Amino acid sequence: MSFIKEKENFLKNILKDLGYESDIVILPSSKKELGDFQLNVAMTLAKKYKKNPMTIASEIISKMDSSFSNINIASPGFINFSFKDQDLIDYLNNSITNFESLYDKHKEKTIFLDYGGANAAKALHVGHMRSANIGEALRRLCNTLGYKTISDVHLGDLGRQAGMLISEIKKREPELVFFDENYKGEYPKINYTAENLGNMYVSANIEASNDEKRMEEVREITAEIDKGNERYLALWKQLVEISSVEIKKIYDELNCHFDLWEGELDSFKDIPPMLTVLKPYLYESNKAMVMDVKNDGDTKEIPPLIVIKNDGATIYATRDLATIYSRIKRFNPDEIWYVVDSRQSLYFEQVFRASRMSGLVREHNKLLHLGFGTINGSDGKPYKTRDGGVMYLNNLLDIIRNEIEPKIKEEITGEKRAEIKEKLTIATLKYSDLMSNRTTDYIFDPVKFSSFDGKTGPYILYTDVRLKSILGKVETNDYKLEVINNLDLKNILLKILEIPSILNHSFNDKSLNYITDYLFDLASLFNKFYNTYHILTEEDEKIKNTYLATCKLVLNILENLLDILAINPVDRM
Ligand code: ARG
Repeated sequence: MSFIKEKENFLKNILKDLGYESDIVILPSSKKELGDFQLNVAMTLAKKYKKNPMTIASEIISKMDSSFSNINIASPGFINFSFKDQDLIDYLNNSITNFESLYDKHKEKTIFLDYGGANAAKALHVGHMRSANIGEALRRLCNTLGYKTISDVHLGDLGRQAGMLISEIKKREPELVFFDENYKGEYPKINYTAENLGNMYVSANIEASNDEKRMEEVREITAEIDKGNERYLALWKQLVEISSVEIKKIYDELNCHFDLWEGELDSFKDIPPMLTVLKPYLYESNKAMVMDVKNDGDTKEIPPLIVIKNDGATIYATRDLATIYSRIKRFNPDEIWYVVDSRQSLYFEQVFRASRMSGLVREHNKLLHLGFGTINGSDGKPYKTRDGGVMYLNNLLDIIRNEIEPKIKEEITGEKRAEIKEKLTIATLKYSDLMSNRTTDYIFDPVKFSSFDGKTGPYILYTDVRLKSILGKVETNDYKLEVINNLDLKNILLKILEIPSILNHSFNDKSLNYITDYLFDLASLFNKFYNTYHILTEEDEKIKNTYLATCKLVLNILENLLDILAINPVDRM
């Protein structure tokens, strides 16, 4: 149990003994000179029991006496206090290498996370990267807090790009059996690389935009796949497979782990049973099948959801509804989280309402769209490449690599240098992407974000390297915290007590900025300490041990929190 929780329980028992009942929250003191922490419970109780808050506060502190220090009351009934140094130190000594003991686990629940969402045969853009970074960190946060999770990449493996690529292959190799209507046998393996596909998509796109007949063919092929044309599907599935290998590599680089590698195509078999559930709510409108999803209390216009298009084809929504049907049937998760661009929020509102109204999901299955803001350039508009093109993830990574490269120490060379450069690049990307609140847009500033100083990923990794280097220079492992009189050190220890509230805030808001802020604060406190005291040359054994134990504690916390953000540490930089 966390230290704070343990103390809150202790205080709750005091209230009980006094005949009061109330929740109790230990808060950081707003007047540090009066004590490190405060309780506001006397005011709450005064209202409830119609008594003077000062009287209640005195009753409470008479029972706190022996277990806390520095206790005093401030009008109209604030109780200020500090923890006993020895108490705090005993607790932290037990947590030096045990991060889990610093916070409280939540109740059991299964959370299904849908993030990543790359589109097959197309390059990932910066929006896909946000989904991956936020989704992966949320998954790890959930696990840290004790929840069971299932993650699914939900590949966009159906759409116009399928028609484009197949029409391009048809043009280049019309003799392939995939284009022979009468062909009935086994399908051969095709010989394309992901790079081929990328180039073919680009040329098909240009041609189709200038040639209506070609575009018509693209549409036809796309529609045929949707209807289940076996030959096209067999070909398309191979293309998806080829491009998935590349997409997987990128997610590996971003340290993303998916339990399920499913996509829109996988939902096809679930469309008929899903439609059976929705049927009573569907009606025809302009030849399409739609469902009304508005509510009486709506303050904005919520248009009907198109479930089947006017030409009988499925759309994005059909596939998402079928996917929900399948996820509930297979996993019955308590919650499904969709980490997808905020620009899809109306869409998800419609899909969630359709699911709830039709009974596709039950009351206890929560559906949440965790939208995120846009990455902008210095002009405040969506981030573009220098020549105004779409900013793909690879372009962005190259920009960061170029910033990082000259900052790495000269003596680090060869493979090691390359490895460190990659890790720092990913750290820069992830930390800056998670640093602003999930829902806000932010301006991507490659120079600022890759700096080794300031609120950046590399700064946290630099601090981590420094801690490892200090601890690597001492021979023994046999040090622990002792009570010493040092306010700077105490500030670090008190900061550590904030961990449970930081994790809870992040979880409640589904936003990682509380963790990035905390990492920066803790790293800054430590670096200030490092610059003020001589850790390795300290002569007093007791003081030196306490310094070293603090280093180890801080190091362990940094690495655990970095791991939640899916940022890998380095050993030099
Ligand atoms: N592939 C989609 C896109 O690129 C994102 C998928 C999000 N997940 C979902 N279940 N709709 O916009």
